[in-house]
Amino acid sequence: MSTRTLVRGGLVITAAEETHADVLVEEGRVVALAAHGSSAAEAWTADRVLDATGKYVIPGGVDAHTHMELPFGGTFASDDFETGTRAAAWGGTTTIVDFAVQTVGHTLREGLDAWHAKADGKCAIDYGFHMILSDVDDSSLKEMDLLIEEGVTSFKLFMAYPGVFYSDDGQILRAMQRSSLNGGLIMMHAENGIAIDVLVEQALARGETDPRYHGEVRKVLLEAEATHRAIQLARVAGAPLYVVHVSAEEAVAELAAARDKGLPVFGETCPQYLFLSTDNLAEPGFEGAKYVCSTPLRPREHQAALWRGLRTNDLQVVSTDHCPFCFRGQKELGRGDFSKIPNGLPGVENRMDLLHQAVVDGHISRRRWIEIACATPARMFGLYPKKGTIAPGTDADLVIYDPKATQTLSAETHHMNVDYSAYEGKTVTGRVETVLSRGEVVIDRRTFTGRAGHGVYTPRSTCQYLN
Ligand code: URP
Ligand code: ZN
Ligand code: ZN
Ligand code: ZN
Repeated sequence: MSTRTLVRGGLVITAAEETHADVLVEEGRVVALAAHGSSAAEAWTADRVLDATGKYVIPGGVDAHTHMELPFGGTFASDDFETGTRAAAWGGTTTIVDFAVQTVGHTLREGLDAWHAKADGKCAIDYGFHMILSDVDDSSLKEMDLLIEEGVTSFKLFMAYPGVFYSDDGQILRAMQRSSLNGGLIMMHAENGIAIDVLVEQALARGETDPRYHGEVRKVLLEAEATHRAIQLARVAGAPLYVVHVSAEEAVAELAAARDKGLPVFGETCPQYLFLSTDNLAEPGFEGAKYVCSTPLRPREHQAALWRGLRTNDLQVVSTDHCPFCFRGQKELGRGDFSKIPNGLPGVENRMDLLHQAVVDGHISRRRWIEIACATPARMFGLYPKKGTIAPGTDADLVIYDPKATQTLSAETHHMNVDYSAYEGKTVTGRVETVLSRGEVVIDRRTFTGRAGHGVYTPRSTCQYLN
């Protein structure tokens, strides 16, 4: 039985335009838009009418960087696919692209199967996978081609974490060469992990064990150097490159210089780098552990360069790198040794709101908000226009967003399975009111009405941002 839903009276915002329009949804898809009050819209009948008067109607967020249940540092990220995707829905995100992991000595297939098993039947919203390559060799390179056929079209490599996820320059070059042939997109964690490990050892030997030293050893220069090196390797291979979680002004400069040469080099940053800083890492009493992630938070001065990069399109995407670890029992593993603090921050629920706050603060426009949070991640990772915009034929992943409501972010009220908020006490203007995932109301005026298993695996085409 097909249900017709009408979202009436809102300001529809996409990356391209803003219009006062009614949106008609049928069988999980947007079937038509018409100017609010027009005779076409007035003639529409529906089983369900959602009143969006005074609200925005925006595409559901596309968070292209999450780590549900990621094994890290002897523990696992505390959100699984059920809790993490429910929290995403609460925050107006209707698609995530999570990172399946190849572990050393195992195949990509094994890693991907394991991630399918974690996610299958659990998700409240749709999901896709990237693949983390931890063991680049002849057979894993061949497997990349097979994964692309199954809709896993992007591959993360690490210049950091020797002994865990790390690839050397030869492995990186070979994976890039392969991606230049098969259309895959290489995503790079750009930090010089070999040098960082030396600095970690030296810091610990000096008795510098507090969380703030995590930020000191993971130097800006070592992010900039790795970013530069990744760009040169991609040039040699003739491959496009997407640098994840860019945090430093000097790394943005490397991306900007490459783009000025016309190279297909792209960058992502995350809300934590835009709103938090080394001041948080230096919070007393081990509180700084809550803010340990890699790349690390930077001195506040870097934020202006990130905002500028987002305005000038030297940075194209804001994802969360959602990788939560509870303070109690998980972050605490690194008391007395910052290098044992599991790396990662919670945030999948907060991204759309924090970026709306950036609109309110004048950093970006409303359409740029939708571009960096919905449309471009969808295009970059082969989900567009099914995801990331509102037009006839697209999935009806819609958010009715109240731009005037205020809320205070807090662990008391968030839905992520983690015992703290990185933004505890921060008041933001704007709040998700109602969320549709493929036409199904999953958040109804701030009540969760979705279910585990509604979300489906969504295969992706290759990067559409280059065409
Ligand atoms: O600290 C972080 N970012 N943890 C998640 C893994 C990664 O490097 O993205
Ligand atoms: Zn195996
Ligand atoms: Zn990373
Ligand atoms: Zn990550």
